[in-house]
Amino acid sequence: MNPESLIRVTVCVNRKLGTTEDEFNKYWAYKHGPLATEWLQRNGIIRYVQYEDFEAAFLDPHYLKVIQPDEKNLIDMDTISVTIGAEYVVIDDGKIVKEHAREQNPEDQKVEQPLKDKIILITGGASGIGLSLTKQCHAQGAKVLVSDIRTTPSFETFASSKPNILYVQSDVTKWSDFDKVFAACEKKWNDVPDFYGICAGLFEPPFSHFWNDPEENGYKQVEVNVSHPIKLTRLAMRKSLGRSKKSTAPLYCATKHAIIGFVKSLKDTEPLTGVKITTICPGLVNTPLFTSDKASQFSFAESKALSPDLVAKHMIDLLQKKEYVCGTMLELSMTGPRLIPEWNIPAPEGEGTGQELQAGEMMKALLGPIEASLAKEKGTSKL
Ligand SMILES: NC(=O)c1ccc[n+]([C@@H]2O[C@H](COP(=O)([O-])OP(=O)(O)OC[C@H]3O[C@@H](n4cnc5c(N)ncnc54)[C@H](O)[C@@H]3O)[C@@H](O)[C@H]2O)c1
Repeated sequence: MNPESLIRVTVCVNRKLGTTEDEFNKYWAYKHGPLATEWLQRNGIIRYVQYEDFEAAFLDPHYLKVIQPDEKNLIDMDTISVTIGAEYVVIDDGKIVKEHAREQNPEDQKVEQPLKDKIILITGGASGIGLSLTKQCHAQGAKVLVSDIRTTPSFETFASSKPNILYVQSDVTKWSDFDKVFAACEKKWNDVPDFYGICAGLFEPPFSHFWNDPEENGYKQVEVNVSHPIKLTRLAMRKSLGRSKKSTAPLYCATKHAIIGFVKSLKDTEPLTGVKITTICPGLVNTPLFTSDKASQFSFAESKALSPDLVAKHMIDLLQKKEYVCGTMLELSMTGPRLIPEWNIPAPEGEGTGQELQAGEMMKALLGPIEASLAKEKGTSKL
């Protein structure tokens, strides 16, 4: 620490008549301040700060009632000179300050993970929701990597001569195309994405339509709407870990959620088809699904597992009983059956429903193999 004492000089000035407070502050910060900085720096000024007027504080009832009377006990009020307000630091620690925090939009200050200068990969970014996302991210200063099977005139117009937008023609159902997208990103920005906006989607197109059922080998709509978000989520983890940028059974859970959505969306179809569609959502069940490795990872215990017979019984009820209408989702746990409502679903309760997996030791067992696989991808595995 430098033991030499610093000398502070405070000069109080009034704004030029006809200048608003905002004009004064901006002029000072961006015109007058920069004009004076080098001269000040050359002359050994370590810190140069502007204080703006802060008249409102002196109109505050608390000041008038409490503080002002008390000041008289302490201060010679006839000689007082006050400066209160925000600081515009133009030189700090002997260096010129170029950015003034005061000028930031208060809304921006609430953002914890700003997009500015970050890379976002947007699938389906050439149309609809994805295109809007592309535009908004670009406006926030992000580098936008658009993966779409085709462009649109609106996208072309928007993206033209914008160096921060990179379009890579790619099909999200062809996983090798993701390599193409990441390679293009590395080539242009020498980095992997920081954010992902998964917007590519299909809505019952003729080539992948449930009712027409034209496909012989898998459902394109499922590949785009379910598989690609899952695959890209996995790739995002892999890429981020690989660059040291900054779950349990996510694929399984996602497939199960997909089926819930599927059943929900079919709830009104029975009159059309004569087919009632329901689903059962049991907690832990004692079946060969739990191979020995999974049994230890997921802390399987017979005492908290349902019997397959009980589950089958409830399935027969679902099939046979009129009370279980099309679209029914029946939860079955150690505490008994529960109809899952369409919206605002409270979490299941009791042993074997997965809630207890949050507990310390169980969580450790659950995450063990995941951590090992992540360590492999980080390159820190000892294997
Ligand atoms: N539009 C709605 O009302 C609505 C409502 C809720 C959810 N969504 C979902 O939002 C997402 C975006 O939908 P949108 O309304 O913007 O539709 P959109 O058709 O405007 O955009 C979808 C984009 O996905 C692209 N795409 C389709 N298949 C692709 C593939 N195989 N590879 C790469 N890109 C492919 C399309 O080319 C298109 O640019 C979808 O997942 C959709 O299901 C839409």
